[in-house]
Amino acid sequence: MGNQKVWFVTGASRGLGLSLVKQLLAAGESVAATSRNKQELINAVGQNTDHFLPLHVDLASEESVARAIQKTHDTFRHIDVVVNNAGYGIGGSIEELTDQEIRASFDVNVFGMLNVIRHVLPFLRARQSGHIINISSIAGIAAGTGWSIYAATKFAVMGLSEVLAQDVKSFGINVTVVAPGAFRTSFLTPESLILAKHPIAAYEDVRASHAKYLTMDGAQAGDPEKAVAVLIQTASQPNPPLYLLLGSDAYQRALRKVELLGDAFSTQEEVAASTDFKQLTPLF
Ligand SMILES: NC(=O)c1ccc[n+]([C@@H]2O[C@H](COP(=O)([O-])OP(=O)(O)OC[C@H]3O[C@@H](n4cnc5c(N)ncnc54)[C@H](OP(=O)(O)O)[C@@H]3O)[C@@H](O)[C@H]2O)c1
Repeated sequence: MGNQKVWFVTGASRGLGLSLVKQLLAAGESVAATSRNKQELINAVGQNTDHFLPLHVDLASEESVARAIQKTHDTFRHIDVVVNNAGYGIGGSIEELTDQEIRASFDVNVFGMLNVIRHVLPFLRARQSGHIINISSIAGIAAGTGWSIYAATKFAVMGLSEVLAQDVKSFGINVTVVAPGAFRTSFLTPESLILAKHPIAAYEDVRASHAKYLTMDGAQAGDPEKAVAVLIQTASQPNPPLYLLLGSDAYQRALRKVELLGDAFSTQEEVAASTDFKQLTPLF
């Protein structure tokens, strides 16, 4: 297999995942790709080579994820790059969404990702190398009204990735957390975006925000093929970045958030210090 890498990509039958798999195969890389529907994935990828391992995986099931990773390792003998891409949007104010809807989104966007990370790490640690790329969102840095639960899942991805990067650094494993802005995929279609089924009329701004996003479908500024090319380039770097912003909208929103945080925090030095014991060594 020469210098070619072995990739493990989740949520690969559409959108960014599908573009990634296609570009990787075109570049001669080996790819294990997961989907809830293996046949749809095979049809979408449209090629059948020894370098391509399509896998039917239920990300919320630890056993299903463990089997897929073991099969990838058995097939390609190692794993180099893991792209935790599968995810979907959920819109609604907190009181409009049910416990079940909220937990289901965490099952895919967060716990599915954790299942993959937990089961792939022993293989990466054994080789003292590897790169885990987690797809968060600009909503995991700066979210807007109407998307609290989606933001919560993507903030979770940010947080776990930041600490994971520190935890696995000494094993030679890199972590990158990606914050895309709006990209022209299936993300804003009913297949990938669920909205509160029982809207409460009082949440006018929430409705307006959802209406605005739905009209963006097909007109998003972000080109998925270009995003994927950047991901592949990032994975080839010896020292890849921890944070990767994709899209000029993501860049602008992230910088604005940093400014807002700077302004909000800088006024609090005195009150923050006022709660310390005197002469205590800081723990963190
Ligand atoms: N496009 C954007 O504007 C945008 C912006 C920020 C972040 N993102 C993030 O980028 C990632 C990829 O999204 P995309 O834009 O490529 O959207 P997409 O075209 O809708 O593709 C999403 C992929 O995630 C998987 N998926 C969706 N719902 C799922 C569910 N309920 N259970 C398990 N898997 C599910 C699907 O995999 P299978 O159908 O193959 O199982 C699908 O291939 C997501 O994590 C998304 O949150 C996208």
